[in-house]
Amino acid sequence: MRAPNLVLVAGVAASISALPVHAAGGDPEAGRKKTVTCNACHGQASMQSVPNLGGQSPTYFVAAMRAYQDGKRGHATMGDVAKAYSDKELKNFVAYYTQFIAESTVSGAEQPASALACEACHGPDGRAPVIPESAVLAGQKAPYPKTTLREYRAGTRKHAVMQGAVGGLSDADVDALSAYYAGLWGLVAK
Ligand code: HEC
Ligand code: HEC
Repeated sequence: MRAPNLVLVAGVAASISALPVHAAGGDPEAGRKKTVTCNACHGQASMQSVPNLGGQSPTYFVAAMRAYQDGKRGHATMGDVAKAYSDKELKNFVAYYTQFIAESTVSGAEQPASALACEACHGPDGRAPVIPESAVLAGQKAPYPKTTLREYRAGTRKHAVMQGAVGGLSDADVDALSAYYAGLWGLVAK
């Protein structure tokens, strides 16, 4: 739940309090009650290809679910999952998942130079998105951005802004960035 050190998490708290209208108003407790299915995958720290959701940016969370619903993100499992819930249930999921922050605020990884360009949108350490449509990257399991960054680069994951941002990255850059963000405190498996 909320980390004890409010000074360190001020940036995260600020991004949470600035909930956009379409993500606001959800009931976290109602969301929690329906997470049994989700957590068979997302609640497992050991399932490395399943992204951490705890503490994700609300706007990004909603956009991702909509993209699975309308097929802009082609992913069979998440497509079926996302279509099974109403808008109200979706808001409840958002309210539940986005309230978490890591209990440990210890980070291990050294920042690669290529991460500087990412901060313009994803915020310092990729932890408090400057544009809410962008995701929290800190604490994400490395295999997920390793895959998604390659997909944006190849154009198989479509998003004009991110496709523009990754064009110049080599495979080595992608791997270094993924390891860096995975080593930062931030998102949690919930
Ligand atoms: C069978 C396993 C599984 C289940 C069950 C599942 N998910 Fe997922 N979810 C995934 C995988 C794998 C991805 C990554 C898909 C991709 O590559 O786009 C994902 C992606 C997501 C994302 C996008 C995260 C990001 O950072 O891009 C959200 C949001 C999400 N799931 C929410 C949910 C919710 C809410 C539920 C329950 C209602 C749920 N998922 C159930 C496996 C699952
Ligand atoms: C101009 C703004 C901008 C810049 C610069 C930018 N991003 Fe993004 N990023 C976004 C947006 C917006 C999204 C949401 C895309 C979507 O919904 O698919 C995103 C999504 C992502 C995702 C997917 C997150 C997830 O959970 O699936 C990753 C990983 C990512 N960015 C990494 C990076 C890295 C690494 C850099 C620097 C090399 C970077 N981004 C630079 C705006 C930006």
